Amino acid sequence: MANQPRIISVANRKGGVGKSIVSIILAVALARHKKKKVLILDCDSQGSITEMYNNEVEMMGADYQPAIEVEEITARKVQSFIKRFGGDYDVIFIDIPRMTDSKKDNATVMLLYNCDSILMPVVGNEVDVLSSVDFLRIVEEAAEFKQEIGEELHYYGFINRRNQRKNNELAEEAMKEQGLKMFKNSLSDLKIYTLPSFFTSIMETAEGQRRLEDFFYEFCRKYKF
Ligand SMILES: Nc1ncnc2c1ncn2[C@@H]1O[C@H](COP(=O)(O)OP(=O)(O)OP(=O)(O)O)[C@@H](O)[C@H]1O
Ligand SMILES: [Mg+2]
Repeated sequence: MANQPRIISVANRKGGVGKSIVSIILAVALARHKKKKVLILDCDSQGSITEMYNNEVEMMGADYQPAIEVEEITARKVQSFIKRFGGDYDVIFIDIPRMTDSKKDNATVMLLYNCDSILMPVVGNEVDVLSSVDFLRIVEEAAEFKQEIGEELHYYGFINRRNQRKNNELAEEAMKEQGLKMFKNSLSDLKIYTLPSFFTSIMETAEGQRRLEDFFYEFCRKYKF
């Protein structure tokens, strides 16, 4: 392979915690501010990222170039895709679907074994914390396996949609107690995050810069970009 791409998944068990949205935000920011060639592999058969991407590409027209690429793919084809085309990219994000039962969702779990980095969005309510703990155990198993074969898996959590302070603090403490290293910065529940562009980064506006910069640069430091 010409180039060894970094492979990252913004991942957790549950739906609606921000896996896809945060993947797009970070992927586009890495492309625009760190000059990385970035691909998102959309493994969610609902294909929400692909649909958003196609809509925006069509809306922008042929004169404009998206900052990143998106490829819709089934989970079982990911490994061979990366072997074949991974060298064309600096960074590949794998967008995983929500998991109904971690013991049965083997194809999704296996996607994590392709990654060198995982970033876990944690939403601050009791049910989500329980499922985050469950997911953390899966990540720890993947990390142990990778260690045995001489590879490292970097993983951190962060609080997404920080709104109710008390719940967020409890969730953060609970995850730390379970052994998850948490980001100092979190993402608030804000409109600017709901529909990120595939062409320009959120930090290209003053409001966006103020809201994302600290989080993005903490991400870059922790994952060595
Ligand atoms: N920090 C945030 N502020 C505001 N809205 C957010 C934030 N994070 C996520 N959302 C919104 O929450 C919804 C769910 O986010 P997203 O689709 O990224 O979740 P997901 O974990 O990928 O879910 P699924 O498992 O269904 O794919 C989206 O409408 C998204 O725009
Ligand atoms: Mg998603």
